[in-house]
Amino acid sequence: MSDSPSRAVAASDPDPAPASGNVDAELTPGLNVLLANAAVFYQKVRHYHWNVTGPHFFTLHDKFEELYGVWNDAIDAIAEQVRSRGDRPVHTLADVLDLASLEEDPSTPAADEMVEVVIADLAALDAQVQNLAERAEEADDAGAVPVLEDLSEQIREDRWMLRAWLNDL
Ligand SMILES: [Fe+2]
Repeated sequence: MSDSPSRAVAASDPDPAPASGNVDAELTPGLNVLLANAAVFYQKVRHYHWNVTGPHFFTLHDKFEELYGVWNDAIDAIAEQVRSRGDRPVHTLADVLDLASLEEDPSTPAADEMVEVVIADLAALDAQVQNLAERAEEADDAGAVPVLEDLSEQIREDRWMLRAWLNDL
């Protein structure tokens, strides 16, 4: 019966099409932790974009904007990987903070300290991404592998650029 309650619920909230290839459902909790960390990091970089001051304002204001743009896209890609496994991406701010291992920054550090915090957070994110990528590769998970590998490559690029910028101060 197409008008049964269960079908009506399913029709109003359809599961997305399953990812092609293997799908490692055990990856989902780790993807949700990564999503929570990505959300904390995104908000922190926005804060730095808004509040950076000093002689490097123009450079860092723009770089932080570029960086949170990257993580805006990454957040969406990670959430869709969770969803394609039939699970729910973490979405409330309370749950994000509960799940994340990265910490918010309620302070407004000096510009160079902001960059040091961003580099440290990127290192923590990269460790998590690489751990998940290894598990996804072992499971031959066709959906998660490219998302995680692209993100790891992006993180590596941003880390060396920011380190290079700090070395020139
Ligand atoms: Fe802005």
